[in-house]
Amino acid sequence: MIFGQERYHKFSILLHWVVALIVLALIALGLYMHDIPKGHPDRAFFFNLHKSIGVTLGMLMLVRLWWRYKNPPPALPLSMPRWQAFLSKVSHGLLYICLIGMPIIGFAASQFTKYGVTYFGLFKIPPMGPNDPVIRDCLQSMHHNLSIVLMVLVGVHILAALYHWLVLRDGVIKRMLP
Ligand code: HEM
Ligand code: HEM
Repeated sequence: MIFGQERYHKFSILLHWVVALIVLALIALGLYMHDIPKGHPDRAFFFNLHKSIGVTLGMLMLVRLWWRYKNPPPALPLSMPRWQAFLSKVSHGLLYICLIGMPIIGFAASQFTKYGVTYFGLFKIPPMGPNDPVIRDCLQSMHHNLSIVLMVLVGVHILAALYHWLVLRDGVIKRMLP
């Protein structure tokens, strides 16, 4: 095996898979609710569900960043080609930027509506800004564009993981498995 025994910390692995599942759910929910017509009774429910899960994901990412700062990932082996190590670092960095940026921009957009966020139906985070369609649409289109970047990155990331697992068989997948 080209890779050493070193793998991610157990808690980093837990965070990776919990975040991955939530992000896939958010993307599915986001795409689904986008097509619910205005005035439809389901619209508010799905929008609030997406916003609540998105805010939770944002908080989870803060924990993840703090944890990663305290527990840096295992070093990539010297046998890995430099271009691969470089691309892995760049793509992980871009994933982090999207995973932090999406909730911040989504939350910011909700501050310029009259709805705010009703967190899982438990309590309301009232909007801090005015009901301003210009600012909201600008932030919403940033949210939309960043979601496309995120979907491409996640697709490439999963293909890369499968390539390491099925073609290179170099044990890289084991670094992120419990
Ligand atoms: C929405 C889905 C996903 C997201 C957002 C995501 C995100 C990330 C991020 C940010 C890292 C870097 C971790 C760090 O160094 O702190 C990472 C690593 C990793 N991910 Fe994912 N991931 C997703 C799904 C998957 C899936 C489905 C697989 C497997 C098929 C996978 C396999 C891996 C592996 C093996 C690593 C470790 C790479 C290494 O050893 O450096 N990920 N992922
Ligand atoms: C990592 C976190 C998030 C991901 C991956 C995500 C993903 C998405 C996706 C894929 C869409 C559909 C794209 C579009 O049609 O614009 C969407 C739409 C939306 N998101 Fe998020 N989102 C996240 C966080 C949030 C948060 C925290 C909020 C608000 C508190 C939010 C509010 C919205 C709203 C209101 C829409 C609907 C826009 C429309 O159809 O008019 N999102 N999101």
